[in-house]
Amino acid sequence: MRPYRTLGVIPPKRHMQFRPQGNLVYEKLFGRIGFSGPSSLLYHAHLPESTNRITPGNEDLSPPVWEQVHQQAHLKGMELSMGGTVIEHRTWLLANDDVRIGIAVPDAQQTALYVNGSADEVLFFHKGSGILHSQFGRVPIREHDYCVIPRGTIYRLELDLASHPRILCLEVTGLVESPSRYRAYNGQLTEIAPYSERDVRGPEELEQEEGAAELLVKRSQRFSTYELDNHPFDIIGWDGTVYPYCFNIHDFEPRAGRFHVPPPIHQTFEAPNLVICSFVPRKLDWDPEALFLPYHHSNLDSDEVLYYVDGNYQARRGIHQGSFTHHVGGLPHGPQPGAVEASLSREPVTDELAVMIDTFRPLWRTQAALDIADPTYPFSWHSADQGGSTSIP
Ligand SMILES: [Fe+2]
Repeated sequence: MRPYRTLGVIPPKRHMQFRPQGNLVYEKLFGRIGFSGPSSLLYHAHLPESTNRITPGNEDLSPPVWEQVHQQAHLKGMELSMGGTVIEHRTWLLANDDVRIGIAVPDAQQTALYVNGSADEVLFFHKGSGILHSQFGRVPIREHDYCVIPRGTIYRLELDLASHPRILCLEVTGLVESPSRYRAYNGQLTEIAPYSERDVRGPEELEQEEGAAELLVKRSQRFSTYELDNHPFDIIGWDGTVYPYCFNIHDFEPRAGRFHVPPPIHQTFEAPNLVICSFVPRKLDWDPEALFLPYHHSNLDSDEVLYYVDGNYQARRGIHQGSFTHHVGGLPHGPQPGAVEASLSREPVTDELAVMIDTFRPLWRTQAALDIADPTYPFSWHSADQGGSTSIP
């Protein structure tokens, strides 16, 4: 996904003496899978480890709720508007050991620098825009961008608060990458990929800051604060393939067929035990006998989470912008009664915009999720307006 990139000044060889401004600079490997995976090399003007104080901070837990029944869920995400900063005030809704899924609706700017030491972050800007400031440089963020931030990246998000940011937050335990089936043997995206390296918007300009800095570190769902002697935005140059970037969902080129094509055609990212897909406006199945809407399906090996961003999602009744649906493994789901018939008289086109996360291990709901769950949703296939109820002894 990430093409090789370089910014600033770097020496002609790795691991050699480098004095671009007279003083020896500090080379730092930023590497995945130890020394054996994708990596970048950064050149610091100052010692990157130097700190004079470390203090414990708050917890950022997402405790699972043990639910006695196993049922589908509609989480009314728009009922969440918690404020605070994008770093410390994420409301986690669904989680397992591979991913945490939540929402941030910040109304304050992040002040301290931040680094996630345990997870890659995928921040989808449902609403709002801003600038990602990082050790690798600055990346402008547009509405409907996926902002993909590798763990270990020290960053500060400068948000346009007037644009009322609403951010879908994913913390992913494994490495977030493009789908492997779209990568050529040398890593380049192939001609059949739904996007190309040209759509990856990496850092544009190095940040230069001086002096001490406060750094908020999150590791294993706990914050601690480091008082750094040297501001980490002191990079003279870097190169490599590990860095933060943005990818706008509208740069995903949708595919359609004469008959319905299943969700893997919308896959945008992969990570261990999960996939992330983008449902974007597109023409639908064009055969006169085609059924436009998804057929009923059982996710035998996965839980399916859809986050609804914009447009009219014809297969689901009662779903709005900001809603989540969580369709659990072991049960079928599909269009609700009447949806298929109603769709047949429409033009074969959709304006839906949604992000899907399929996890291959079960997700747990948090109390925050249960607080916004629509109690009627598990019965929405029962038949229109007949209702139903969950009986918990
Ligand atoms: Fe589904």
